[in-house]
Amino acid sequence: MRHSFTFLLRLVCIFPLVFGTTPAVFHWPDPAIDSMDEILYRPNNGVGILTTVCNARNNSSIAAQWLRIAYHDMATHDSVAGTGGLDASIMFELDRPQNIGLGMLLSLDDFALSPNEHVAMADIIAMGVINALIGCGGPIVPFRGGRIDATEAGPETVPEPQQDLASHTAAFARQGFNATEMISLVACGHSLGGVRQADFPLVVTEDVPTGVQLFASKIGFDPKVVTEYLDSTTQNVLVVGSNVTTRSDMRIFFSDGNVTMQSMASADKFNQICGDLIERMINTVPSTVTLTDPIEPIDFKVWNTVLYPQDGSLTLLTTMRIINSSLKSTVTLFWKERTGTFCPAAGCSVPSFQVQSAQPSFLAALKGVTGYTMHSFNASIDLATSISYFWFEVTNNDGSAPVIINNQGANFTIDQDVLLFVPPRTTFTSAGLDMVVAVKDLSGTVDVTSTTTLHGNASVPIPSTVTSNFELDSSIPAADGYTFYSASISSASLSNTVHATIDGTAYSLWVPQPLAGVA
Ligand code: HEM
Ligand SMILES: *[C@@H]1O[C@H](CO)[C@@H](O)[C@H](O)[C@H]1NC(C)=O
Ligand SMILES: *[C@@H]1O[C@H](CO)[C@@H](O)[C@H](O)[C@H]1NC(C)=O
Ligand SMILES: *[C@@H]1O[C@H](CO)[C@@H](O)[C@H](O)[C@H]1NC(C)=O
Ligand SMILES: *[C@@H]1O[C@H](CO)[C@@H](O)[C@H](O)[C@H]1NC(C)=O
Ligand SMILES: *[C@@H]1O[C@H](CO)[C@@H](O)[C@H](O)[C@H]1NC(C)=O
Ligand SMILES: *[C@@H]1O[C@H](CO)[C@@H](O)[C@H](O)[C@H]1NC(C)=O
Ligand SMILES: *[C@@H]1O[C@H](CO)[C@@H](O)[C@H](O)[C@H]1NC(C)=O
Ligand SMILES: *[C@@H]1O[C@H](CO)[C@@H](O)[C@H](O)[C@H]1NC(C)=O
Ligand SMILES: *[C@@H]1O[C@H](CO)[C@@H](O)[C@H](O)[C@H]1NC(C)=O
Repeated sequence: MRHSFTFLLRLVCIFPLVFGTTPAVFHWPDPAIDSMDEILYRPNNGVGILTTVCNARNNSSIAAQWLRIAYHDMATHDSVAGTGGLDASIMFELDRPQNIGLGMLLSLDDFALSPNEHVAMADIIAMGVINALIGCGGPIVPFRGGRIDATEAGPETVPEPQQDLASHTAAFARQGFNATEMISLVACGHSLGGVRQADFPLVVTEDVPTGVQLFASKIGFDPKVVTEYLDSTTQNVLVVGSNVTTRSDMRIFFSDGNVTMQSMASADKFNQICGDLIERMINTVPSTVTLTDPIEPIDFKVWNTVLYPQDGSLTLLTTMRIINSSLKSTVTLFWKERTGTFCPAAGCSVPSFQVQSAQPSFLAALKGVTGYTMHSFNASIDLATSISYFWFEVTNNDGSAPVIINNQGANFTIDQDVLLFVPPRTTFTSAGLDMVVAVKDLSGTVDVTSTTTLHGNASVPIPSTVTSNFELDSSIPAADGYTFYSASISSASLSNTVHATIDGTAYSLWVPQPLAGVA
């Protein structure tokens, strides 16, 4: 059975990213920020959904597993050499004793479908930490993107409970955290989860009914791990376990005479100290990586945009996503020709054909987003004069003046209409999909390939990249001034960038998550 569908398309564009504290600005098209916003703030998308209630898993929690894997990934950092850090090298380090535990592979499986060409697995691990904290009632840590995945294992530098205090202090110093910060960061981490008897039989020496000796008596991201240590009621086996050698939390917590632990005993101080340190932990990256400004929910987001030839004209499908707006507001799409004259002086225009509301993710809701309205457009564009750019006019129908949404004054510019992705001609196959692109008829040579990001499988959840060649598709007759090329793309595809050289000129098209928009 052949299905037709619509899905996202972006023209590739790289912007220089400047480190700062103001939110990153979304200049369309920006596949990286676009995807990060999608994963963090849209409902039922990406890593948010699994942790909204601090869900139990394997008698610990998903949140605990996600926080631990992030620390173990970061623990390869060498702050002097500027190497290692949150770079997903953990994908290649799972067979080490220091990374024992079923939570490691399960976490990578949780994350497997979320990265793409523009959002590294390391970014997803960072998003996992942010969701783990809020899911368990902890602080909201800002997200910055732009991490780069390692292609091999890092050094074997994760601290282990039988090591002495001097080794731990040196290990944290190497990772960029001083002795005070070490105490706090360990307490923050050990707010969640516990130690598994099966994996650490020399640490958990007495039988525990669930097989996991939890660090604190209460599930949740809170200072119980601190207050129970201070009032000597703690069951934390790294503090009171009968094997003195593996009482690493005891040695660390006590290392400054409890001063730091006492400073973290209130919920407010615990959240503030842990929020800051865990933010530093996820932002610990190799010195060659520059992180973006924080990614906040995008106010007016152009979404699901695609342009393709169909039945004698060009079809432009796009959606304007607006935060907090009411369904009563109306949005109009305007555009201008690419060549010649066709539209009125004010531009061609079309009203939205559909308005839907959508829920925010749990994280977006915590940031004050009450909901989204999605205004969808299907514009029929004159084939001969084509389109150069578009913009929107939003009318709230409450007497206020209309608002122009024009990509911060730059308009939403269509780079080119030579290489276009054609959703209605793209079909599902048993192997994945037959992706069809249209190439504007020009004399000369045409070479089309795609770079596809593939997800791994449950036992090896490591993304990879493959290149596919598009061939002239003789089953689709040339039409509307375009010829059609197709390639078979694996069902494990997470995103594609189509590259073409046509008459010596290079073009590229970003086509994310092929199955995201099945119509
Ligand atoms: C000297 C430093 C540390 C040592 C020796 C240590 C040791 C351990 C051990 C032995 C476990 C049990 C793992 C299992 O049974 O699955 C554990 C669990 C855990 N650790 Fe640490 N840890 C250290 C620092 C940290 C830090 C800095 C963090 C995060 C900020 C962290 C987060 C966690 C979490 C969340 C768990 C619970 C995992 C679960 O329940 O699935 N640890 N740690
Ligand atoms: C851990 O939990 C996962 C997900 O619930 C489950 O698939 C897996 O079998 C569990 N592992 C063990 C050893 O119980
Ligand atoms: C660690 O750094 C913090 C923040 O700069 C500082 O307040 C603290 O005194 C330092 N601790 C040690 C042991 O140097
Ligand atoms: C305590 O733990 C250490 C380090 O894992 C181990 O060498 C030792 O045998 C353990 N002692 C006991 C009594 O289990
Ligand atoms: C969880 O605890 C139950 C007993 O409460 C036990 O039967 C089960 O094996 C434990 N699961 C894991 C993954 O340890
Ligand atoms: C630190 O706290 C532990 C656990 O409550 C306690 O045994 C110890 O006496 C305290 N030490 C100091 C110097 O306060
Ligand atoms: C959305 O509405 C909420 C609640 O009124 C508000 O806190 C938040 O700042 C609004 N967000 C935006 C982006 O307007
Ligand atoms: C867009 O409009 C055209 C022409 O009216 C129609 O053939 C096509 O099915 C529409 N596409 C979508 C996705 O609504
Ligand atoms: C954006 O579109 C408006 C309306 O057509 C036009 O007046 C303006 O010059 C355009 N700006 C740019 C930078 O293209
Ligand atoms: C998972 O992927 C790895 C690496 O590509 C491969 O070696 C392995 O056979 C795959 N496992 C399964 C169950 O498909």
